[in-house]
Amino acid sequence: MPFYHKLGKIPPKRHTQFRKPDGSLYSEQLFGTVGFDGMYSNIYHEYRPTQVKEILKQYNVAPKIARANNMESLRLKGFDVKPEKDYLNSRKTVLTNSDCSIILAAPQESQKDYFYKNTDADELIFIHKGSGKLRTFLGNLDFKYGDYLLVPRGIIYKIDFDTEDNRLFIVESRRPIYTPKRYRNWFGQLLEHSPYCERDIRKPQELEHHDEKGEFLVKVKKQDDIFEMVYATHPFDVVGYDGYNFPYAFSIHDFEPITGRIHQPPPVHQTFETDAMVVCSFVPRLYDYHPLSIPAPYNHSNIDSDEVLYYVDGDFMSRNDIEAGQITLHPAGIVHGPHPGAAERSIGKTETEELAVMVDTFKPLQVTEDGLKLSDGTYYQSWLEKE
Ligand SMILES: [Fe+2]
Repeated sequence: MPFYHKLGKIPPKRHTQFRKPDGSLYSEQLFGTVGFDGMYSNIYHEYRPTQVKEILKQYNVAPKIARANNMESLRLKGFDVKPEKDYLNSRKTVLTNSDCSIILAAPQESQKDYFYKNTDADELIFIHKGSGKLRTFLGNLDFKYGDYLLVPRGIIYKIDFDTEDNRLFIVESRRPIYTPKRYRNWFGQLLEHSPYCERDIRKPQELEHHDEKGEFLVKVKKQDDIFEMVYATHPFDVVGYDGYNFPYAFSIHDFEPITGRIHQPPPVHQTFETDAMVVCSFVPRLYDYHPLSIPAPYNHSNIDSDEVLYYVDGDFMSRNDIEAGQITLHPAGIVHGPHPGAAERSIGKTETEELAVMVDTFKPLQVTEDGLKLSDGTYYQSWLEKE
């Protein structure tokens, strides 16, 4: 996150002696990104964080590709993803490319006997259903419906859910996920025209501290393999840290929509970005107020980006029969637009209650076997006018 955060105990100067009450040294870790050029935090552990006891297993979890090159607009029934007890097993990659993956998950249980670390990708976890606590070695974040949880690569975490009824929409990004550059000044501060600002971003305030030795299983994802690694010290043994690299939460309900007299283009909904994709939030808002405005979007050919929309709640005005939890994919290269009747229907409406998350990727997405299973097979013909 492009601002400074400090949690717990740290010494007044970095890379200097920082001692425990018994006189021994805390163990310092520089936790950086993009080599030594990106955001970083300086972390102080009770024990050396390097104590690997054993590597138990290595297995591949790369998604199986059903369609490497896709030109069909798809509707995926996201709520058809079966709930599964285990958090990692519950995650089903439905669309993917070399930059990012779109994942749906319905986990029923909190992670009990292992920690997880994704070294391949930043994870943006959108909470569609459920509540609980994201527990990380850099502090905890409570979450509920509508939250985005941004977990930078390398953060060791566990998720606790309050109930069994959880639905997650996850974007895994191999490029770091940032706030949109055009909304930041040269110091990184979010500008006045940004749809949200630093006050809306929830930083970890609660730091779990476990001064424990033993056997701690961390499932580490690297190059689409999971390595089951046993560490000799508890991963949450941090006494303090400071810096710019930490997990945070942002609620879609805190996104302030930008509206206009005529139809505003998707970039006004932009919430996050990488150099390979953008994430946008469509939130309840007033419609366009030019006397002759058409609130529904015009037909558009996103000629060089694939468009993924995840429908969260409300009535999505440009579509005829979309339900919550569904994904539509409008692939690069062809035109899409409002369904028959949607433009006319939108005229005169003054506001919308729609809530959706959009991911536009600059490289085409491949459809996985898990993704294709959710397809209704007919969506691409849904723009045909009835004879
Ligand atoms: Fe579109």
